Amino acid sequence: MQGLTEVLFRRVYEECFPGAIPLAVSPFISLTHNLQFSKGKSLESLLADVLPENNNGSIPVVPQILGKETEEFVELGNILYDMGYGEVNWNIGCPMRAITGKHRGSGILPYPNEVKAVLEAVMPRLKPRLSVKMRIGLKSKDEIFALVPILNDHPLASVTIHPRTGRQQYTGVPDLETFGEVLPMIKHPVIYNGDICTVADIRRIKERFTSVADIMVGRGILYNPTLPLATANYQLPTKHFIRCLMEEIKATLPTEQSKIRKMKEYWSLVWKSLPISEIQAREVLRAQEFTVVDNLIDQLTQ
Ligand SMILES: Cc1cc2nc3c(=O)[nH]c(=O)nc-3n(C[C@H](O)[C@H](O)[C@H](O)COP(=O)(O)O)c2cc1C
Repeated sequence: MQGLTEVLFRRVYEECFPGAIPLAVSPFISLTHNLQFSKGKSLESLLADVLPENNNGSIPVVPQILGKETEEFVELGNILYDMGYGEVNWNIGCPMRAITGKHRGSGILPYPNEVKAVLEAVMPRLKPRLSVKMRIGLKSKDEIFALVPILNDHPLASVTIHPRTGRQQYTGVPDLETFGEVLPMIKHPVIYNGDICTVADIRRIKERFTSVADIMVGRGILYNPTLPLATANYQLPTKHFIRCLMEEIKATLPTEQSKIRKMKEYWSLVWKSLPISEIQAREVLRAQEFTVVDNLIDQLTQ
């Protein structure tokens, strides 16, 4: 997830809970970031999150690509392959309006011919395997049905479905009925994604959809960082993990303002895994000074 499950998070997570998450998908790398080369940005800085040297001791990761610019897609995919990535993921689920307006992310879902054109141009020349992460549509839940034959025409590694429309963003509930309808039509391994926060949520999906190949957890890993361990009946407190994450943020980010911003960004989600009240959690979010934020988090994770 952009800004959240970047390599800093993935490395601290793997240090605290080795092997608990078998695979992560990187926050998306936008193809139009190439434009930033002209502003003096290097390839290394654009790909920093997935550079193998930055990912030593981290959760194994599949780099994710966002966009529909086919030449850049092939070029970036093949650069990632040469770095050692055997699979890249195509994001056609992102709901941000600035992105969907340009037929990128979930903005491409109402246009099967554009999805077809991208896959036909990219697949024959792409060295790594390609998996897809998508929503069921941009405006309508039915858009996915026209896409299935196109996805089936290509040797994809997997298709991850978050059964909401892009317009829904994160509101409402995942449309399990549509997910159940489309599941048997897809010939690739299908991974379910959406609102998985507890072991019971995982069981519910696995029992209802027995042919689901796997489950991808998004925000749930922040609300409940030990969720993957709980599935194996380990009950570990998250305090230690949260402290390590905050330490890493303090050690890595350059200024007090950037440290506060990042610490609060994580805190606004991970506090839910602690035995504290919302009033206590909000005190951290209200604080403006670095030392106050730091001390409060320190106290609340004792
Ligand atoms: C802040 C934020 C950033 C996200 N960034 C990405 C991203 O870069 N790539 C992606 O595939 N999904 C991204 N997502 C979507 C999640 O991967 C996931 O599909 C979505 O949150 C639904 O699953 P969940 O209910 O388990 O969180 C993001 C979600 C959030 C809230």
